[in-house]
Amino acid sequence: MKALIAYFTQTGNTQMIAEVIHEVFSTRGEVDITTVRRVDLDTLSEYDLLIVGAPCHDGDLAPPVKGFLDSLPESPRFKLAGFFTHATYTPDKNGREGELYNQWAGRCHPTFENICSSKNIEFLGCFNCQGKASPPIEAFIRQEIITDDDEWDRYLPDLRKHPDSTDIENAKKFAQDILDRL
Ligand SMILES: Cc1cc2nc3c(=O)[nH]c(=O)nc-3n(C[C@H](O)[C@H](O)[C@H](O)COP(=O)(O)O)c2cc1C
Repeated sequence: MKALIAYFTQTGNTQMIAEVIHEVFSTRGEVDITTVRRVDLDTLSEYDLLIVGAPCHDGDLAPPVKGFLDSLPESPRFKLAGFFTHATYTPDKNGREGELYNQWAGRCHPTFENICSSKNIEFLGCFNCQGKASPPIEAFIRQEIITDDDEWDRYLPDLRKHPDSTDIENAKKFAQDILDRL
């Protein structure tokens, strides 16, 4: 089994998850890791699995990752799994927090599914976790999304810890689950 992990990152959160998944895959076969910009599309036919990682930008996968997914061949040999990091709440939350996830990260998972389906690529699933935001993004969230002082005081210190040890463990489990299903 040969896998390729291809990711985009600006502040390191998505790279951290990519490296955790790489570590798990290294124990069970050959795995390469690189950024989406460095992938040579002509080499993709060597792989059984492509794992694609993105930060969430504007509620969807970051544009360089969408562009990369759009450039994938139709009906390839490889299967695809995805992961993304995002600053909004996690999707397991109810009420306002769940609504904010839908609004601010809810298109990420369907984008993976839709692109795979349109290109006849077998999609094995997707992992996501929170990732701390850069100062300008924190400022945007404070001004536009979490304007309530109490909510902000709960949200920000927690966000700044992510990806945390639980996220890392969950990413390892995700990688292991993908390996077990291949
Ligand atoms: C331009 C930009 C737009 C962003 N938009 C969103 C967003 O819509 N929803 C969200 O949850 N996080 C958003 N974020 C936060 C990032 O998704 C989050 O911090 C992510 O973990 C960054 O990953 P990285 O460190 O790999 O770059 C945005 C970040 C940037 C830089």
